[in-house]
Amino acid sequence: MNIIMITGASSGIGMEFALQLDEHFGNIDEFWLIARSRDKLGTVAGALKHKTRIFPMDITDPKNRAALEDAAAGNYEGHSGRIGASGRPVTVRMLINCAGYGMMGRFEQQEGETALGMIRLNCEALTDLTHRMIPYMRRGSRIIQMASSAAFLPQPDFAVYAATKSYVLSFSRALGEELKDAGIYVTSVCPGPVDTPFFDIAESTGTTLSVKKYTMVNADRVAKLALKDSYKKRPMSVCSLPMKAFLALSKALPHSVILKIMEQMKQKGW
Ligand SMILES: NC(=O)c1ccc[n+]([C@@H]2O[C@H](COP(=O)([O-])OP(=O)(O)OC[C@H]3O[C@@H](n4cnc5c(N)ncnc54)[C@H](OP(=O)(O)O)[C@@H]3O)[C@@H](O)[C@H]2O)c1
Repeated sequence: MNIIMITGASSGIGMEFALQLDEHFGNIDEFWLIARSRDKLGTVAGALKHKTRIFPMDITDPKNRAALEDAAAGNYEGHSGRIGASGRPVTVRMLINCAGYGMMGRFEQQEGETALGMIRLNCEALTDLTHRMIPYMRRGSRIIQMASSAAFLPQPDFAVYAATKSYVLSFSRALGEELKDAGIYVTSVCPGPVDTPFFDIAESTGTTLSVKKYTMVNADRVAKLALKDSYKKRPMSVCSLPMKAFLALSKALPHSVILKIMEQMKQKGW
């Protein structure tokens, strides 16, 4: 049985991946959608033409990630007694690790749990799930990892989030090299600001540079380009000209210079 597994599928970019793959990806038996909100997952599943299983769970809990691996192995009956009880292992044709969140604000003023929570979801859960699913992949399988343009350089007032995304980018690029000979392709997706509920959480503790808001793109555009880049076996997907320029700048200039410019922009209220 061929499956596509998407974490963070209940909203934003993850939901867009589900909708676009449902439309364009053939030869898939089931979509497996993962997030905490059962209701929202049910709504997304209801919009898909493919057979879909929802896994309403918090993937920062290692027990839930183990349950997903058991489901992939085909020998797990699960909370509902329904998931993955086929008795045969699945083939993961595509794994999209999209679940993630960020919280702005000064590090020393954040609750310790806030910082650790970002690391647990953005880094630990993504790494563990990737590790658990690779054995169920075959030649031509794809892994798409949601990083961010925040991965390109350190971001004061978004310090932990940017660091988690640097981790995702570095880890995923190295993994892509390791898996190339096995014919499994890894693409890291690095958009700038995307118009999703992400900012409801991110801005609950801080504010984004106004200038960043001018570069905001829609989730469907990010997902579309990411899938195209994945099919083209590209290691990175960077949506929009301003973010491509930002990437080039982050390679060309010392980070200390860019950080100084960003600080001045913040002081001017840009
Ligand atoms: N929006 C942006 O500007 C932007 C830019 C660059 C990168 N990104 C990255 O893109 C990814 C998707 O974000 P988005 O913009 O689409 O935001 P979003 O709409 O808030 O989506 C986040 C998704 O993650 C799920 N999630 C959160 N905590 C979870 C947990 N503990 N266990 C399982 N699922 C969990 C959420 O569902 P539940 O709440 O139901 O669990 C939701 O489906 C994130 O990794 C984010 O860092 C976003």
